Amino acid sequence: MQTQVESRPILENREGRPLVAFAYEGCNPDLLEKILPLIDILELPPDSFGNGENGKITFVEPGMAQIDHALAAGKRMIIHGIGLSMGSYDGMHEPYLNFLDAFLERVPAVWHSEHLGYTRVHGDYLGTMLHLPRTREVLDMICDRVMAIQDRYQIPFLVENIVRLLPDEDNEFTDAAFINAICERTGCGLLLDAYNLECEIFNNRLDIDEFLAEINLANVREIHVACGYEHKGFLLDVHCLGLKQSTLDLAERIIQGSGGTVDVLTYELLSQAIPRMGHDAIIAEMKRLNEVCNRHEQ
Ligand SMILES: [Fe+2]
Ligand SMILES: [Fe+2]
Repeated sequence: MQTQVESRPILENREGRPLVAFAYEGCNPDLLEKILPLIDILELPPDSFGNGENGKITFVEPGMAQIDHALAAGKRMIIHGIGLSMGSYDGMHEPYLNFLDAFLERVPAVWHSEHLGYTRVHGDYLGTMLHLPRTREVLDMICDRVMAIQDRYQIPFLVENIVRLLPDEDNEFTDAAFINAICERTGCGLLLDAYNLECEIFNNRLDIDEFLAEINLANVREIHVACGYEHKGFLLDVHCLGLKQSTLDLAERIIQGSGGTVDVLTYELLSQAIPRMGHDAIIAEMKRLNEVCNRHEQ
């Protein structure tokens, strides 16, 4: 049986507006304490809270204690994985799945999401994430894997658009048609990353009007916003800065276009960027997200 995302919001009790989330890696309890009143949800990368390498499950217990603390404060949890490598030709990364099994036993999650990409080739870690060829063969492979994940966890699953670092191949689908086909065939939801779209506009001349006209925005359950920097003429998805207004404007455009299906707006920031950015600046960003969500109360 598939756990399908229906064409209505997943989350109960969201008071008719998208909820605000912060992507948290478990390293900054002082910051967590300060932003808890400004967020509804924590988005957790399981990869930062332990691993399942070498056949052994290991948890980072100080991080897990902070999750328990946020749960006790009434916050909900969503999971955003990095290590699944959903698009590797030789299969998804089993140690990650084994850890996710254990992580979800301890953390009650509303949903789980992953990237439409791959981080491993023939078992070797690439040190980055690469995009998928948009062919029928890859579509079949990804849909089979999405359905296997939905069967395994019985909670909704979302896929996220990533940034293209290498030149595109000969494709059989546009970006939007490929994502639409995955959502339609499997019933999974879409995590649309507004900043990744801005990187695609800058780096690869994505026509955003064409993309937004073609993508089925009713599949969007979550939006990521973030900001990175430009390096050698390339806009990088390194999440280390405060948000550009253009990113929030694009997020609002997606919320409007979805017709009310967006449950969550998440600010992504790497833990390494927190000391340089400072707690006050991060609090200010969370207030901006709340303003956006409040404007879309229905
Ligand atoms: Fe992501
Ligand atoms: Fe993202």
